[in-house]
Amino acid sequence: MRHVTKDNITDVFMGYFGSDTDPRLKEILKSLVTHLHAFARETNLTHDEWRKGIEFLEWAGNISDEERHEFVLLSDVLGLSSLVDMLHSSPEGTSSSVLGPFHITGAPPLPIGGDLRKDFTEQVLLAEGRVLDPDGNPIEGAELDIWQTAPNGMYSSQDPDQDTYSFHGIQTTDKDGRYAFTSVKPISYTVPGDGPVGEILRASGRHPWRPSHLHYIVKAPGFRPLVTEIFPDDDPYLDEDTVFGVRDDLVMTYIEKPAGSFPAEGFELSGKVDGPYLLASFDLTLVPKGT
Ligand code: BEZ
Ligand code: FE
Repeated sequence: MRHVTKDNITDVFMGYFGSDTDPRLKEILKSLVTHLHAFARETNLTHDEWRKGIEFLEWAGNISDEERHEFVLLSDVLGLSSLVDMLHSSPEGTSSSVLGPFHITGAPPLPIGGDLRKDFTEQVLLAEGRVLDPDGNPIEGAELDIWQTAPNGMYSSQDPDQDTYSFHGIQTTDKDGRYAFTSVKPISYTVPGDGPVGEILRASGRHPWRPSHLHYIVKAPGFRPLVTEIFPDDDPYLDEDTVFGVRDDLVMTYIEKPAGSFPAEGFELSGKVDGPYLLASFDLTLVPKGT
């Protein structure tokens, strides 16, 4: 087609696919380009604006490396990551939520009752719960990959002063589906703001804060893996997470437990915690594969 116009260019694009194009790729590209062209028409996009957009994407590419995934962050702050999560989250199970860029593989095993707080001196947080199927039956042998920020709001991969696996651990549930560990209360933190995503947040008058949370990836044979986070209900950013990760069912309440009430056994810190501590109880429900 040589007679390409602003009105027919979308249809012309559709006609350029080869006959053996993967049908799903074709479906996705057709829809993407339809919306992209509609966006340019609707906003009457100028050359300058188009160039700024291209420069923005180039900057995101240049700043990305093995550890920094600026395009994932862009998807997060635009709400795309969360929308994809919600499209595929089963109402029968615990909601999924964003993975984020700070998960690292190979975390060490954390026995039930094990401790992630180590030498930090902040108040102890005891996090516990069960992994269940949709009928409420416990799932034994479920694997929980756990990670969170240190009290300074930084993940180990961001902070040269922390060990590689600081505040990371992998726990396997017992016959009652139970998990339990001690840690410190995570705090609210900001997503990286020194790149193009930070720039777009500032230009949009948006803040970069995420409410504090504990991250879990839960896996068990025969069940869909769950990537999620749990959030305390007293966090000031709960209703304005910059990456849209909060869901009603992921919100929990910290319970203040009085001095002298820390479990006398079953925890690495048993016998070592005299003062008050915080309790976060949260059950996680997995849905069977194929549902
Ligand atoms: C996180 O929770 O670790 C995270 C998620 C999305 C963007 C940045 C951080
Ligand atoms: Fe996080």
